Amino acid sequence: MIELNNKTVFITGGSRGIGKAIALSFAANGANVAINYQTNSDAAKAVVTEIKSMGRKAIALKGDIANKESVLQMRDQVLARFETVDILVNNAGINLDNTLLEMEEEQWDRVLDVNLKGPFLCSQVFAKLMVENRSGKIVNISAITGAKARLNAPNYCSSKAGLNMLTKCMALELAPNVQVNGIGVGFIESKLVREIYSQAQIDAANAVTPLNRMGTKDEIAQMALYLASSGSDFMTGQTIALDGGKIIG
Ligand SMILES: NC(=O)c1ccc[n+]([C@@H]2O[C@H](COP(=O)([O-])OP(=O)(O)OC[C@H]3O[C@@H](n4cnc5c(N)ncnc54)[C@H](OP(=O)(O)O)[C@@H]3O)[C@@H](O)[C@H]2O)c1
Repeated sequence: MIELNNKTVFITGGSRGIGKAIALSFAANGANVAINYQTNSDAAKAVVTEIKSMGRKAIALKGDIANKESVLQMRDQVLARFETVDILVNNAGINLDNTLLEMEEEQWDRVLDVNLKGPFLCSQVFAKLMVENRSGKIVNISAITGAKARLNAPNYCSSKAGLNMLTKCMALELAPNVQVNGIGVGFIESKLVREIYSQAQIDAANAVTPLNRMGTKDEIAQMALYLASSGSDFMTGQTIALDGGKIIG
């Protein structure tokens, strides 16, 4: 068990998928948790209920991370409930795939706004608290496609490549008291993946992955936990690939 007792974490997009797995795993390791979501209040409330049943404190905050006013409102709501924020997990992200030649300007803008501007706004707001406290951790949930291009996703790949550089820039500026690291997430077993890809496509992807399978949300949560804990105190500015080895092949 990694000790996060008395730490407060703010997790964007914590109502489902990888963000939910991170929220539950942080709570299981002693953290109090504020999760953000954008639309689905029922899903967010269910995560809060589950965390409270573990004996930890939890709140859900509705807001758009791409909007500065919304981020400031969420900060005020978190600080009304908890003393400070010790750990920020920039997890929320979206895909609006299209080819370069067909992509609408709105598809480009929205993906960059949520996946890159969102982490910038949240980090700017919450890092101020961490700098005052002379302590803090920021974990950015990126994707392996920030380093290896994927067809039909120039907006998504560029947003994640930008996030990887933002991780380095923030790490440089916020050192030595605040560490900033990221996870280059690969193909993850999820509802989304099962809806988008056929079993044949999943088998083909697994065949070119050295570890021959998709990852799990819990495996991402375990790495996020390490990056949020004192065990990673000597690491900053890194985006760790968690992709079954796909990037090396
Ligand atoms: N799943 C994969 O295989 C995979 C692979 C590589 C990287 N990733 C990255 O991992 C992260 C999580 O992915 P996921 O598949 O777990 O996501 P997901 O299941 O689609 O969940 C997305 C979460 O983000 C929230 N959200 C979306 N837009 C938001 C906004 N503008 N402001 C605030 N919250 C917003 C959603 O809230 P509502 O439900 O209320 O809208 C939801 O809680 C993303 O950054 C993604 O790029 C995932």
